[in-house]
Amino acid sequence: MSAAPSDRVEPTSFAFDDHSHAAIDVAIAKYPPGKQASAVLPLLDIAQRQMGRTTGSAWIPTVAMDAVAQALSMPPIRVYEIATFYLMFNTKPIGRYHLQVCGTTPCWLRGSDEVARACRDVGGMKGYGESSADGLFTMSEVECLGGCVNAPILQVDDDYYEDMDYERTKALLESLKRGEKPARGSTIGRIGSAPTGGPVTLTSDPIRVPSASNVEPEKAE
Ligand code: FES
Repeated sequence: MSAAPSDRVEPTSFAFDDHSHAAIDVAIAKYPPGKQASAVLPLLDIAQRQMGRTTGSAWIPTVAMDAVAQALSMPPIRVYEIATFYLMFNTKPIGRYHLQVCGTTPCWLRGSDEVARACRDVGGMKGYGESSADGLFTMSEVECLGGCVNAPILQVDDDYYEDMDYERTKALLESLKRGEKPARGSTIGRIGSAPTGGPVTLTSDPIRVPSASNVEPEKAE
């Protein structure tokens, strides 16, 4: 059993590893010389991913923000301001899997309350912002994830699970508990964003509209 996120303490040091250094070089190279502070968002993301990789909890302790500030020659307070403003940065330890339940209107109308209920039932969390006792899950409510057409959406780390309901959410979380990672995307076999019963338009070959490029030149008599 992993440690509960609340048992994890702020580390006393943080250093980027080789994997992160390679990603940092790529991020900084995208900006003109002297403007490296513009890479603060990617560097915070790199720090959070390194924490996830090395500790099983993708969050950004203060010492990691300090390492970002040092890498970009920025005052640490500027990095703290940015890290605490954006929702995608976790400034407290989280569980191995970050369950992000979209609660905005289209997902809510399509049953996001049931998705949240399944997360609570399987993980034992009482509500948003809480983590399971085994350290596997942290549950957050997020605003529109841009996948409304396949609502409701549950985002797990970087992956979207779409067309969720209570039973499918429960099955997904139980798979994660077993160490399995089901395929992301629609959980009802929907292709892309097609209607649930299959496509209802463009079901035959498109009509070939004559244009200058596809009209055969007339043959000379
Ligand atoms: S409202 Fe949930 S993805 Fe848009």
